[in-house]
Amino acid sequence: MSSLAELPQIRYQDPLSGIDWAGVDRECWWMPPSLLSLAGVAEFEALPLRQRQVLSHLEYAHLLEAGLWLESQFMARLARLAQRSEDVVRRARLLHELREEAGHSLMFVELLHRSGYGFHAGRSVRARLAEALGRLVPSEAALFWAMAVAGEEIPDQLNRRLRRAVEEVTLSSVVYRIACIHMRDEAIHLAYGREQCELSASRCPSWRRRLLAPWLSATIELYARYVYFPSAATYARAGMRPAQLWRVRALGNPRRRAQVAQLLRPTVTFLRRSGWPIRSGLCPTH
Ligand SMILES: [Fe+2]
Ligand SMILES: [Fe+2]
Repeated sequence: MSSLAELPQIRYQDPLSGIDWAGVDRECWWMPPSLLSLAGVAEFEALPLRQRQVLSHLEYAHLLEAGLWLESQFMARLARLAQRSEDVVRRARLLHELREEAGHSLMFVELLHRSGYGFHAGRSVRARLAEALGRLVPSEAALFWAMAVAGEEIPDQLNRRLRRAVEEVTLSSVVYRIACIHMRDEAIHLAYGREQCELSASRCPSWRRRLLAPWLSATIELYARYVYFPSAATYARAGMRPAQLWRVRALGNPRRRAQVAQLLRPTVTFLRRSGWPIRSGLCPTH
């Protein structure tokens, strides 16, 4: 090998330059209506089209903010793992993933900035708790890879649905492009993450996995709730009041709950097959 640039697994495309940012549009859907937390709730369906579209922007903005949070955690870990790695290809692989995550975060920041929605400063207690729990995990541990898989798959599942639902309504072309780019890169990250997860779980004694499983289950549950059920502030920003009531409606929405169970199932099934006896209230068949 003469140059790292020749490695197929580290070929890089800058996401920022792959998007026509002049096309950012607020007069359309950013998420298909079927993917909104309140889809099927009579009081929500009765709202004017414009207001439902604004909620689709803000639920997508929420997904981006969840992505920014996750990627910041993940980039810090990747940097530490790369620093410790003595294998040059592995180090390059980790640094490449880090620059891809930075590229994703830049896309998210650009859309939030250009659209005028900006950043929502407040973070839920759940997100802060998940962050604190995440910091306790040693970088090389089997637990880290299990959390990395869950952390990336949970928003990715929603992103995949969003991209597939393009025939349902006309989506913002910029949002659609972001979803495509993110999905393409995440497919590679997830294949690597799943491989590392299986490998590290097989090296971790089963008593230890059993001991850590409740902690892993609780963290995944908190994080999935954070990603799939926006906070009351999201409804308030869409002009939907009382915002707390809309959140309660979303949390109790049977269609959303069934959708969330479906979105979580592949991750929960994979982790259980990898030797993590996890439980999930949001995905109750497991
Ligand atoms: Fe990403
Ligand atoms: Fe990723």
